[in-house]
Amino acid sequence: MHSSLHCATIVGAGARIVDVQVDLSLGLPGFYLVGLPDHSCIDARVRVLTAIRNSGYHLPQKKITVNLAPGDLRKEGAAFDLAIALGVLGASGLFPPVEGTVLVVGELALSGDLLPVRGLLPIALEARRLGFETLIAPEQNASEGALVQGLHVFGARTLVEAVAIYLGEGVAANPADPLAPAVHAVDLSEVRGQAHCKWALTVAAAGGHNALLIGPPGAGKTMLARRLPTLLPALSFEEAVETTSIWSIAGKLNPGQGLLSERPFRAPHHTVSVAGLVGGGSPPRPGEISLAHNGVLFLDELPEYSHAALEALRQPLEDGEVSVVRAKGAATLPARFMVLAAMNPCPCGHAMDADPERCRCTLPGKESYLRRISGPILDRFDLHIEAPAVSTRELSGAPDGETSTQAREKVEKARAIQRKRGVHCNAQLRGRALREACGATDRARGVLAGIIEASRLSARAYDRVLKLARTIADLAGSGRVNEDHVFEASQLRCLDRPLTGRDPRPPLHIARETVTHKSPGTAPGELPRERA
Ligand SMILES: Nc1ncnc2c1ncn2[C@@H]1O[C@H](COP(=O)(O)OP(=O)(O)OP(=O)(O)O)[C@@H](O)[C@H]1O
Ligand SMILES: [Mg+2]
Repeated sequence: MHSSLHCATIVGAGARIVDVQVDLSLGLPGFYLVGLPDHSCIDARVRVLTAIRNSGYHLPQKKITVNLAPGDLRKEGAAFDLAIALGVLGASGLFPPVEGTVLVVGELALSGDLLPVRGLLPIALEARRLGFETLIAPEQNASEGALVQGLHVFGARTLVEAVAIYLGEGVAANPADPLAPAVHAVDLSEVRGQAHCKWALTVAAAGGHNALLIGPPGAGKTMLARRLPTLLPALSFEEAVETTSIWSIAGKLNPGQGLLSERPFRAPHHTVSVAGLVGGGSPPRPGEISLAHNGVLFLDELPEYSHAALEALRQPLEDGEVSVVRAKGAATLPARFMVLAAMNPCPCGHAMDADPERCRCTLPGKESYLRRISGPILDRFDLHIEAPAVSTRELSGAPDGETSTQAREKVEKARAIQRKRGVHCNAQLRGRALREACGATDRARGVLAGIIEASRLSARAYDRVLKLARTIADLAGSGRVNEDHVFEASQLRCLDRPLTGRDPRPPLHIARETVTHKSPGTAPGELPRERA
């Protein structure tokens, strides 16, 4: 006797359908499982036979052969258990072949109970794409799968219930709570003082710019960073599905949890490994940057992260995805996130204090501390925000400044302008698209060229400041970038100013009147042509 069912496995950030073919034949009783299964998958033989017996079914003494097709796709995990068990019961003549297209997913306990599986949301999305009508899954996961419209998702607690559902009994599960508005536990107005930092974070949120907070201990850097997600626009439905799928694959969703409604905020400890950060394992699993997809990755105490971990961020920051290659397979995982980092300006943390005597660090000490962050990584932060110590008067005063809701309204308006421009956010603008989007006035370009020349900054910095100026103009509702926007943008890159005291470059906080007006260059690097 022969039977065939459909199951699915996770590959990267998506799912692939797997045919579970079961054959019962005369011969020495035994259980053979083929089709490139890994160890946890091969163990299904023990789980399935014991669960069938403990569920009260009688199995004929036959040779059982199970093939998981396609044979060249690695199968890992225990999610095939339920499909194998139903296939064995079907092949033994317990029930006739079922009409229609049914996908079956679930892990079996020895008692016959069903255990939840990872990645049910991407599996349900793939099932709907391929025209499946019904999905049978463990009850704990069913509401997650039911979020996918156009698919009947049934939750079963045990193998016996799954058999009944397979034969057409049972009631389809209700979807988990649909996208509920995010409720934030923290608010921007709780941070006292730091008006410049709050404005800088609003700019970063508006343009999706990566930002680095630098300041002495206790200035409120970590506090500010934790409030960034409250400034970001609400997740769209598509973004929520993408992010929830990744969390589902990583096994981070709670039972019965619906779509994630808050943008993720991931703050891995500085001892995180490269694999933990960008993803790894066999088969590849999402790392912190994929869990932060459509949200924020916060790197507190930036210089303490390993050089390898920070360098591994470079490619995903450019591409918005990460390719993880392992011996047992490769996967491309989505990783479009904002990076927010925080650091002290020197080992003791007081290098930027008004009173230079407070800093106890030696010059080589300061330099080696700053050298831990490579130039290319530093370059990927559009904003370098100085967070000075906050005075006791401010700390003891009433809450000041904007609330998160007020700041978010501005951010949402600015993002709407950017969407009309055809980009997700200004941080994605590159090259010619950036020049065209900026529509910088002649005077603005001249001022920018003057600042770049006076500060001896690179062509990349030119683009970064221009991009920031575009976001500031969007926040102001201005169609063109003018010199005020450029000046403001230049104030948001304090690390281009010397921290060690040795760098001969002039500060970027250049008073307007000290910048010689130059005629604009036409491209970065072509700085600036003298006015004819
Ligand atoms: N601007 C502020 N407004 C209100 N409370 C603040 C502010 N700055 C610091 N605090 C208080 O000080 C605590 C420590 O702040 P936080 O951890 O954010 O400092 P930090 O700049 O990250 O310091 P470190 O460099 O040591 O990590 C906060 O939990 C908060 O209670
Ligand atoms: Mg901190």
